[in-house]
Amino acid sequence: KKRNILVTGGAGYIGSHAVLALIDAGHRPIVIDNLVTGFRWAIDDEATFYEGDISDSDLVLKIIGEQAIDAIMHFAGSVVVPESVENPLKYYDNNTAKSRSLIETAIAGGVRHMIFSSTAATYGIPKSSPVCEDMPTMPINPYGMSKLMTEMMLRDVAAAHDFNYCALRYFNVAGADPLCRTGQSTIGATHLLKIAVEAALGKRASVSVFGTDYATEDGTGVRDYIHVSDLASAHVIALEALMADPERSHTLNCGYGHGYSVMQVLDAVDRVTNTKLHRTFEGRRAGDPDTLVSDNIAIKQRFGWEPRYDNLDLIVQHALAWERRLTDIQGT
Ligand code: UFG
Repeated sequence: KKRNILVTGGAGYIGSHAVLALIDAGHRPIVIDNLVTGFRWAIDDEATFYEGDISDSDLVLKIIGEQAIDAIMHFAGSVVVPESVENPLKYYDNNTAKSRSLIETAIAGGVRHMIFSSTAATYGIPKSSPVCEDMPTMPINPYGMSKLMTEMMLRDVAAAHDFNYCALRYFNVAGADPLCRTGQSTIGATHLLKIAVEAALGKRASVSVFGTDYATEDGTGVRDYIHVSDLASAHVIALEALMADPERSHTLNCGYGHGYSVMQVLDAVDRVTNTKLHRTFEGRRAGDPDTLVSDNIAIKQRFGWEPRYDNLDLIVQHALAWERRLTDIQGT
């Protein structure tokens, strides 16, 4: 059945892929975005767009009514870990307070389902790897804490109201739509693969490797890189699960269950582009764990989620194809 889904942050990196996944699955996405970090052109033409803030409850209530919203996919928020350390209140506002407002408006408007963009940063430095959903959550930065607080609000609201949710804890999201309809367009990105493809296209002189003395095979940090389109499809499956069983809520990891080191990621970019990135070796970045890899058994078993792009070279190819297209769009 065709559903009307409100996508907050639908002009952003992951949100714009979710819009495509919803359209591809036969649903109807309605986007709200304040365009602070997102781009109007990143939203597919088939989606209805409202420019505004999720904390504007009059606007959100109006959209819920006008568009007969069945569920909300909530992507809007701030995502840069070091920035959250310098400006924690921005994160507690954008990720926590504004989510509180959105949840309140959802309840007031009679929306009974929400899918929430959470993060592996809720775990902090995990005691063991791969990390499971029932392991302790001890964020080591305001970003992770701001998301964890929203998870807690959702849990309590689901217990009190006719409402269920799915919090997806993302690992390292990378790549772009395989058909190159959207991708990561963030200005001043800090994420490894984005930086590496920018460097491969000559937009940067070199790539910094932060830390070479981690307790990993080659000494550089290991992360679980997940293709953004596989992540988007997990949201569509979660939506169906929430509607099929309204009594049940979920908190699930979203990753592939294996990781690559910084060096392996840069080597993959070299392999795909047939060049050699210039690497500069630097000290550790504050707050980086050695290894962050997801246990993904729960989401596979519960939702039957099957990734389609679990292949590092393919992720690099898609990221690179988008970065080329972005050069044309932004003229950089
Ligand atoms: N790294 C470099 N050089 C760079 C950028 C990153 O060596 O220029 C390294 C980092 O030290 C780390 C790895 O590459 O070892 C990945 O770093 P990212 O900045 O790409 O991503 P993070 O793992 O720090 O964080 C990302 C998201 C968070 C999320 C987290 C969960 O940004 O929002 O994944 O795994 F919480």
